[in-house]
Amino acid sequence: MDYLLIDEGLVRIKIPQYEKVSSKAPVFYNPAMELNRDLSVAAITAYRQRIDEDIAICDAFTGSGIRGIRYSKEIEGVSMAVVNDLNPLAVELARDNIANNGLDNVHVCREDANLLLRKCRGKFDVVDIDPFGTPAPYVESAASSLKAGGLICVTATDTSALCGTYKKPCIRKYGAKPLRNEYCHETGIRILAGFLCRTFSKYKKYLDFQFSHSTEHYMRLYALVGKGAKNTDRSLESLGYIAYCPKCLNRQVFRGLTPRIPIKCPECGETWDVGGPLWSGKIQDSDFIGSMLNNVPDLNLNTENKVLKLLEKCYEESDAPPSFYDLHTICRKLKTSAPPLNSTIELIKEGGYQVYRTHFNPNGVKTDAPLPYIEKIILKVNRDSNKTEKSIIKKRTL
Ligand SMILES: C[S@@+](CC[C@H](N)C(=O)[O-])C[C@H]1O[C@@H](n2cnc3c(N)ncnc32)[C@H](O)[C@@H]1O
Ligand SMILES: [Zn+2]
Repeated sequence: MDYLLIDEGLVRIKIPQYEKVSSKAPVFYNPAMELNRDLSVAAITAYRQRIDEDIAICDAFTGSGIRGIRYSKEIEGVSMAVVNDLNPLAVELARDNIANNGLDNVHVCREDANLLLRKCRGKFDVVDIDPFGTPAPYVESAASSLKAGGLICVTATDTSALCGTYKKPCIRKYGAKPLRNEYCHETGIRILAGFLCRTFSKYKKYLDFQFSHSTEHYMRLYALVGKGAKNTDRSLESLGYIAYCPKCLNRQVFRGLTPRIPIKCPECGETWDVGGPLWSGKIQDSDFIGSMLNNVPDLNLNTENKVLKLLEKCYEESDAPPSFYDLHTICRKLKTSAPPLNSTIELIKEGGYQVYRTHFNPNGVKTDAPLPYIEKIILKVNRDSNKTEKSIIKKRTL
């Protein structure tokens, strides 16, 4: 077999040469996930600083070993990392990669991730779940194994299910109905977050989401684990549903597991499309993301610029309400052109409303302003910019 050498962070990793990134490759490695791994290094560094104790990490789906090896080499205070994979070739390669990077605190395991996590109950501070497709079959083992104060990091690449392209797989895997609309990536991440909370709650454990992002073909969540029946019950109150009107774009969050959701949109009488149950609480924590941002310059991340850009956006939207308005979708409904984003945001703010941009969509605004007000502002911005254009043309022709 021919091999390639990959430099990420502070490590050099050997991987089998590949033609196309595929789950059929002898050992899986996806260069497009370097951003995900860089962000993970920044997130676990922030977590380690916060708890101020040495940590043990389980990279339960390791492939080439790259995550566990990077965590051990790049994060201060990692007492031990376990890298695990079912694929015997991956395990062999991970062993080589650990030796070649001169590490003696990274242990290799070849086990089904569920069995490993169940066996190692209470051993790990951080569990990283990065499987092919859905993480759903592995969340319960992570829930049983993680101790209070631990950190769970989860990737999902089955975005077509979470975002509602295929509704039935989402219902099967996550017990939730997705929405197929302009903010379906946020709904998808919230469905995943809700699923994690419901699964952890069986063990009287609750989650405090620190950082969440939807990037390209995947979603990733980082959450602190807490323990106790009372707090778990309280956290479940943040489960809920989002009702969406496909005709007028109105939406509303209904909190609770069995809220009374009217059948029809109160604005236009169209039947609501309802997504959930999902997590309607916070999915970003500004302190945690702030600490990640502070650490980035000291880490050795090839994707540093992208990491900073994404973290800044997530930091900015950390107090924003669920769901967002896509200005382009509103403009299609109004049959008007898209207004400049900045002036629209400024005018909504002048109305006394909160407005945030969102990493989910460059044309998205999260706001507590009602939709009719946003529409009025869009039309005003367009009228004003048309007037300016006309007066420029007039001046030119004079
Ligand atoms: C998406 S890849 C992991 C990529 C790796 N974390 C990285 O950042 O490069 C998923 C890995 O999980 C392994 N795998 C699949 N099912 C598994 C299971 N039940 N238990 C443990 N490993 C499994 C596959 O062999 C594959 O290497
Ligand atoms: Zn409506």
